[in-house]
Amino acid sequence: MSRLSSFPSIRRAAGPAIVMAGALGLAACGQSASPAADSAPEAPKAPAPTEAEKLAMLAALPAPYNDGDLENGRRAFARCRSCHTITPGGPNMTGPNLYGVFGSKAGAREKYSYSHAMRTADFAWDAETLDHWLQNPRTFLPGNKMSFAGLPDATDRRDVIAFLKVETGFKSE
Ligand code: HEC
Repeated sequence: MSRLSSFPSIRRAAGPAIVMAGALGLAACGQSASPAADSAPEAPKAPAPTEAEKLAMLAALPAPYNDGDLENGRRAFARCRSCHTITPGGPNMTGPNLYGVFGSKAGAREKYSYSHAMRTADFAWDAETLDHWLQNPRTFLPGNKMSFAGLPDATDRRDVIAFLKVETGFKSE
């Protein structure tokens, strides 16, 4: 018994040394690649909600958004994606990142260069203002620079607003 049990312990002792050598090699490689990674802006660490949590968030929205179809909202948002990101800390593109847009003042992202009209607009985004904006961006805020014709279909607007509420960190009261 004692010979059998001492044998594996020798192997265990030798094992970690080999693993360590491998890890050191990897660490050295990783270091040369790290400056590029370090210069990327760090995203806030909010854990992404699960699908079940998203459905619970949807159900908690005020009417008519609690009846929203998240899949249709995602499809409608495909028309915004060429210009907007919605992830926490996501980059501004042609349009500003939209994470946290609900409840935030219009035209207030620090690192985005808005039109004068949007930067000096005096309101905060909620479902109602977003609905008007998406129905016809040009007439809602004359002089803005979002070149988007709008979403004429009210159901698409309901669904994209529900989708954005769920995806951009909106918290129901
Ligand atoms: C062709 C590019 C483009 C498309 C497509 C587009 N946007 Fe925009 N969006 C912009 C630009 C540019 C601005 C900034 C407007 C300004 O400064 O006048 C903007 C601004 C916004 C704002 C205001 C953000 C803030 O910080 O106040 C919201 C909300 C918004 N867009 C939502 C949407 C949604 C939702 C869609 C799709 C249904 C969409 N946009 C489609 C370019 C676009």
